[in-house]
Amino acid sequence: MKNFDELSDQLEKLAMAGLVNASVVHELKNPISIISICNEQILNSLEKGDVVSIRKFSKKIEDSLEEILSIINATKSLLDGESNKLLKISISDLVNETLINCKFKLDNKKVTCSCDFSDNLNPINCNKTQIKQVLSNLIFNSIDAISSLEEKWIKIKVSQNELETYITIIDSGTISDLEITKMFDPMYTTKGEAGTGIGLWLCEKIVENHNGKIKCHILDNHTALEFSLKNI
Ligand SMILES: Nc1ncnc2c1ncn2[C@@H]1O[C@H](COP(=O)(O)OP(=O)(O)OP(=O)(O)O)[C@@H](O)[C@H]1O
Ligand SMILES: [Mg+2]
Repeated sequence: MKNFDELSDQLEKLAMAGLVNASVVHELKNPISIISICNEQILNSLEKGDVVSIRKFSKKIEDSLEEILSIINATKSLLDGESNKLLKISISDLVNETLINCKFKLDNKKVTCSCDFSDNLNPINCNKTQIKQVLSNLIFNSIDAISSLEEKWIKIKVSQNELETYITIIDSGTISDLEITKMFDPMYTTKGEAGTGIGLWLCEKIVENHNGKIKCHILDNHTALEFSLKNI
């Protein structure tokens, strides 16, 4: 018969395996919805014989398939505890690339998004796919939080000192202190069936794996999610 320690070890591994699966599924929702929209656009363009549009949407499908593969690899390796693949990345390029992936949801919910990059940002060492996952999760959460408000904006600020880079996502909404204490817990969601409560838990794991920190605070009466990354 197994002793208590062995059983609790196995239970912990099972729970982790469940969270790995849930995280991969969570991250695939966006590229899969882009593929589905592009497929519809291709069918429309076929009827019109619009070859240029067909090529454009087919390229988007190709990019999304590539993204799916890198998300599966990055999420699995992060949660399996494998070593992180760090590369020197331009943080402004990373933010701009992420915004391309979020564009559909931003436009759909009529949310404006602006960026404020400090001058002369140096490239930083990070796992690009994982940090893009963090950023897109924070942007999608902001969109969800403000979609029913009259004022709908998101601001992304990036600043740097010699040691660290700070990325802050501020939205036009607000949040209670109580919610701030619970929001990073796995499975905590206020979105009912529409949410899994995996997003922020995964963001925290990725940021911690980069030896950084993530927190939520109120900035000028608005919700601000800030994470830091070591430059090297
Ligand atoms: N920008 C925000 N403003 C207000 N509340 C937020 C914001 N970001 C997150 N939250 C709160 O934190 C909860 C947990 O977020 P998390 O991303 O982990 O899960 P989720 O968004 O509910 O589900 P999923 O990520 O699976 O769609 C949200 O349900 C929401 O209540
Ligand atoms: Mg979320």
